[in-house]
Amino acid sequence: MRAAFYDRTGPASEVLQVDEIAKPEPRAGEVLVRVAISGLNPTDVKTRSGITPRPINGFQIPHQDGSGTIEAVGDGVDVKRVGERVWMWMAAVDRFGTAAQWCVQPAEQATHLDDTGSDALGACLGIPAMTAHRCLFADGPLDGAAVLVAGGAGAVGHYAIELAKRAGARVATTVSNDEKAGLAKAAGADLVVDYRRRDALDELKDFSPVMDRIVEVNLPANVDLDLALAGPSTTVVTYAATGTDPTLPIRRCMTANVSLRFVLLYGVPRPALLAAASDIGIAVSERALSELPIHRYTLDEIVAAHEAVEAATVGKVVVVP
Ligand SMILES: NC(=O)c1ccc[n+]([C@@H]2O[C@H](COP(=O)([O-])OP(=O)(O)OC[C@H]3O[C@@H](n4cnc5c(N)ncnc54)[C@H](OP(=O)(O)O)[C@@H]3O)[C@@H](O)[C@H]2O)c1
Repeated sequence: MRAAFYDRTGPASEVLQVDEIAKPEPRAGEVLVRVAISGLNPTDVKTRSGITPRPINGFQIPHQDGSGTIEAVGDGVDVKRVGERVWMWMAAVDRFGTAAQWCVQPAEQATHLDDTGSDALGACLGIPAMTAHRCLFADGPLDGAAVLVAGGAGAVGHYAIELAKRAGARVATTVSNDEKAGLAKAAGADLVVDYRRRDALDELKDFSPVMDRIVEVNLPANVDLDLALAGPSTTVVTYAATGTDPTLPIRRCMTANVSLRFVLLYGVPRPALLAAASDIGIAVSERALSELPIHRYTLDEIVAAHEAVEAATVGKVVVVP
């Protein structure tokens, strides 16, 4: 099969190769998926570049996310799943990521993709929607809650808006320009605020003096804003290590009685991951989740695809094997 892979970390143009490799066989508990679309995330380029290295078992086919159709199953997996459309999450934790014509995955990490969901949507759910789900719901339901999503046009931010709205929350979000404001409004945010404006905090306080949940992409930049909107009901959930670590203003955190949570998807307890995948699958069937603008690359263009993610392209970069 044709696959992209690397056997050492480094710049995309130096370490990514595309070639024929042996098609894998599903082992017990696994499924073989014919990949329709492989989705990229910042984690894929950070792992490939060596910023956040993971062990390489001989070679690594990149990309945690993807969509496709089950072609074969290993022992212990229901044969009726052959022919099922699926979306995959954490596919590259083993060496067979989704940047190939086929990949093998644990059966439970190939989640049913309802006919209401396109292949492109399926390929963009894994890391972003699963992370958004954990950030929103680790501390309980959100019906009637006020939620602030920092960076609502980002991939995680986009699904945080859509999942919070579906859960009955009122959602405010921050962006840095008009294009991103349009995306956040289309996702269903009730209030979209340009965080570079001096009156951003006033607008957010008018919306809700206290936020119940703040889904945070840049705690160093936003810690003052977040604490100004925090009270005993607030959990600030940070999922990105952006910039320099801030000095935690302990007295202000205590005064607000705020809770802080940190999320790294790879370490989220397995039952929570499976519950999130199941709920996201249902949300797709309800048409509650949508695609950001999609930027398609072929497998042979994988270097350009990785460079597009590194250039902070707005929307989702995908590879079609
Ligand atoms: N912990 C985990 O398990 C996990 C899971 C997924 C992603 N991540 C990490 O989370 C980050 C975002 O991932 P992504 O896929 O959502 O990336 P993305 O699609 O590039 O979105 C990032 C968004 O953050 C916004 N942003 C940056 N600084 C901001 C600030 N001070 N206030 C508000 N918004 C701000 C950016 O917009 P502007 O720059 O225009 O403001 C951009 O829209 C990456 O570092 C990724 O590695 C971690």
